[in-house]
Amino acid sequence: MKCLGLMSGTSLDGVDCAIVEIRPGRAALRVTLLACRTRPYPPALRRRLLALIRSGTTEEVCRLHVAVGEVFAGAACRTIRQAKLSTGDIEIIGSHGQTVWHRPRGRALPGVGAGRASLQIGDPSVIAERTGITTVADFRARDAAAGGEGAPLTPYVHHLLFQSRRASRLIVNLGGIANVTYLPGGGGLKDVLAFDTGPCNLLLDGVMAAATNGRRLMDRHGLLAARGRVCDPLMRELLTHAFVSRRPPKSTGREEFDERYVRDVWRRAKRRRLSLADALASSCDGIAHMIHRSRRWLPGPVDEVIVGGGGARNRGLMTALRRRCAPSCVMSMERVGVNGKAVEAMAFAVFAYQAVRGVPVNLPAVTGARAPVVLGTIAPGRRATLRVTGRASSPSVGSVR
Ligand SMILES: Nc1ncnc2c1ncn2[C@@H]1O[C@H](COP(=O)(O)OP(=O)(O)OP(=O)(O)O)[C@@H](O)[C@H]1O
Ligand SMILES: [Mg+2]
Repeated sequence: MKCLGLMSGTSLDGVDCAIVEIRPGRAALRVTLLACRTRPYPPALRRRLLALIRSGTTEEVCRLHVAVGEVFAGAACRTIRQAKLSTGDIEIIGSHGQTVWHRPRGRALPGVGAGRASLQIGDPSVIAERTGITTVADFRARDAAAGGEGAPLTPYVHHLLFQSRRASRLIVNLGGIANVTYLPGGGGLKDVLAFDTGPCNLLLDGVMAAATNGRRLMDRHGLLAARGRVCDPLMRELLTHAFVSRRPPKSTGREEFDERYVRDVWRRAKRRRLSLADALASSCDGIAHMIHRSRRWLPGPVDEVIVGGGGARNRGLMTALRRRCAPSCVMSMERVGVNGKAVEAMAFAVFAYQAVRGVPVNLPAVTGARAPVVLGTIAPGRRATLRVTGRASSPSVGSVR
């Protein structure tokens, strides 16, 4: 069956859309990528999202919830058209939405309790209405309600796509935030470990923007970083952030690594009279160091490091990672036959597929949730008949026929 996944991460660069074929295998699902596409956010929308995350009003949350829903729906329709498919070919959409708040350890409200909050906007009703396809969204909320971080969720799909019988693998996603998934050789889902390691592209993009007064938003291909020299004291300062040494389960976002954090890094670089290239090289090395340090929480050795996400296209960052992770072999996801730009969007297609079957995809050992729970909120499409299946563990989850 064909399913579609939509994802926009902390970099706020745009919507990744993936269409996958999912077949139930004997032991696990078989997932094949059919098409993928990224639709960049219009610059004005990106600016408004950044402002919303910084200090938004309720009105702005509501307006952007609908606007992001429209952009996601547009990305889905265009990808379906370009794949020469029609909306009728797609069974279900899984939409991550755009995170505007992620504080898994936020302060509890007096007298009410748990302060775990993670909000993704991009109204699934808009997506279901524009496409006619049943849309599942809000995947993080249920894990958080079950006492988890609500993140990371993609390890479930990393296990599907990258598990090896012999080699122990570390899957590294270089997104706005970097996260790692540990897959010990021959291990099952219960052996998977994963967590965020700290900032990644949001630091590199932020330093570029700060140094150029917003004229350049990205060090394309890492050409500047690759030319720079690492300033060891600046790199070590990056490691002193409390998040870096916090034990997993842990996840983070722009709330903890905000514009002030990025501006502060750039200010420290200027105080040391570093060039932009040196500041970027030092940041790349700091990011690589954070990823490498995460090994202290892994129960076994790492044979292969497999890298995806936008940062895999940054030469400076990849060189730093290779240096830090030596002698482990560091390779791109493409080397093992997986499109590294599409993995996260593919994951949300799989999550939607599992949501309507009542299958949990959160891994309690990863997120810290009390139990596996079925994730997602369903906006029915035009053709959908939702029937409550009445599973004991998930009485409100229906299946789409
Ligand atoms: N050609 C490139 N050269 C250098 N950096 C790139 C290139 N292409 C993308 N990037 C970086 O990757 C970022 C986008 O990566 P990606 O989409 O994986 O992150 P994301 O949307 O934050 O996802 P998430 O945090 O959920 O993993 C861009 O903001 C940019 O910093
Ligand atoms: Mg992105």
